[in-house]
Amino acid sequence: MPDTTVKRCDKVKVDKVTVFEGQVVRVVVDVLFPQIGKSKFLSPTEHAMSNKDKIEASETRITKAVFPNTTNHYATLFGGTALQWMDEAAFITATRFCRQKMVTVCSDRIDFKHPIPAGTFVELVGRVVKVGNTSLQVRVTVYLEQMYDEYREKAIEGLFTFVAIDDNMQPVPVRR
Ligand SMILES: CC(C)(COP(=O)(O)OP(=O)(O)OC[C@H]1O[C@@H](n2cnc3c(N)ncnc32)[C@H](O)[C@@H]1OP(=O)(O)O)[C@@H](O)C(=O)NCCC(=O)NCCS
Repeated sequence: MPDTTVKRCDKVKVDKVTVFEGQVVRVVVDVLFPQIGKSKFLSPTEHAMSNKDKIEASETRITKAVFPNTTNHYATLFGGTALQWMDEAAFITATRFCRQKMVTVCSDRIDFKHPIPAGTFVELVGRVVKVGNTSLQVRVTVYLEQMYDEYREKAIEGLFTFVAIDDNMQPVPVRR
């Protein structure tokens, strides 16, 4: 029985020896055939995640405190600062998705829904929403969070498009 298998194997781990219908039976629990042994080390392709997994893995969350040096004369978060934070969150998300050099090519429709007062936290959440040939789009949502209670609401949302580039700053396909 297992002997024929043993001859074709690199390594056999025997769990126990028992008697079955008068015959000594070895229960083999771990058989490494040469080709199976090699395939235990996955190639980069085998490791490659699906786009869905990559979208999950690249989701980026950054929390900032809205201190007075980030506000305008209304004591709310300055729009330009919010845009800088959002572009940064989007850039990290895009780069994590494909691990390539990326540049911002466009920002679409930024909705400032609620003012963000000084003395609060904001959480920026970046997520890839579209993957093109050389470009991809990231949605960034900014949540306003009170420091001393659990209140939280969506305050800003915007879309950012990035292009993957080579060393000559020319567009190249986004790795999937
Ligand atoms: C990004 C850049 C390399 C693109 O070069 P380009 O010659 O315009 O490239 P293409 O026309 O071939 O477009 C490349 C991709 O970008 C997309 N794209 C280009 N302009 C766009 C725009 N205004 N809005 C949305 N997508 C745009 C195209 O649809 C294409 O996507 P796809 O390949 O997924 O279909 C070039 O415009 C550039 O260097 N811009 C400056 C970037 C920069 O300095 N950003 C700020 C600092 S990070």
